[in-house]
Amino acid sequence: MTDSAEIQFRTPTVTDGPAMWQMAVDSATLDVNSPYAYLLWCRDFAATSVIAEVNGAPAGFVTGYLRPQQPQTLMVWQVAVNAGHRGVGLAGRMLDHLATALHTDGLTHLETSITPDNDASRRLFAAFARRWDAALHCSELFGAGLFPDSHLAEDLFRIGPLRVENCR
Ligand SMILES: CC(C)(COP(=O)(O)OP(=O)(O)OC[C@H]1O[C@@H](n2cnc3c(N)ncnc32)[C@H](O)[C@@H]1OP(=O)(O)O)[C@@H](O)C(=O)NCCC(=O)NCCS
Repeated sequence: MTDSAEIQFRTPTVTDGPAMWQMAVDSATLDVNSPYAYLLWCRDFAATSVIAEVNGAPAGFVTGYLRPQQPQTLMVWQVAVNAGHRGVGLAGRMLDHLATALHTDGLTHLETSITPDNDASRRLFAAFARRWDAALHCSELFGAGLFPDSHLAEDLFRIGPLRVENCR
């Protein structure tokens, strides 16, 4: 990505569903859900998701939802950045964009779940907690035994409280 690249963060629409599915496939790390799931996500959870475009082309996305039992907590479900745009802070900026947008509606915490082998993702959320000067609490969410396949355990990262005035 060049310094002059134009980066835009926006709310996804259903026409972004196929590109988000393709980015999940290309990530080679994420659990790939059905194309239908991404369409449904873009219809029903667009306000808690974001798509990043670089020079007008999709370059990354975050999908999330507000927990029904805890609507001040954003659960981040998937984050992906295309290989050619990694390592320059795009994922972090998408998280900042969402947290700042939702903060005005009362968001206080962000959660995500991460497998123990995903260093990039663990560092992404640790860096988010540092930028927001917020505590990060790690616990087990789903043990490996809950998965019917060879899926690793998913650790829950809970970050907060989030105060927009603390975000650097
Ligand atoms: C995880 C992912 C979204 C990070 O995107 P990104 O735009 O490169 O991330 P950022 O540039 O914002 O970097 C965030 C942090 O991760 C670190 N990081 C980025 N890539 C890394 C890698 N391959 N290995 C280790 N750390 C890495 C960065 O150094 C930074 O940490 P720091 O601030 O302490 O230096 C991207 O690697 C990706 O799409 N991976 C495949 C899908 C995936 O695993 N998603 C997460 C699970 S939902």
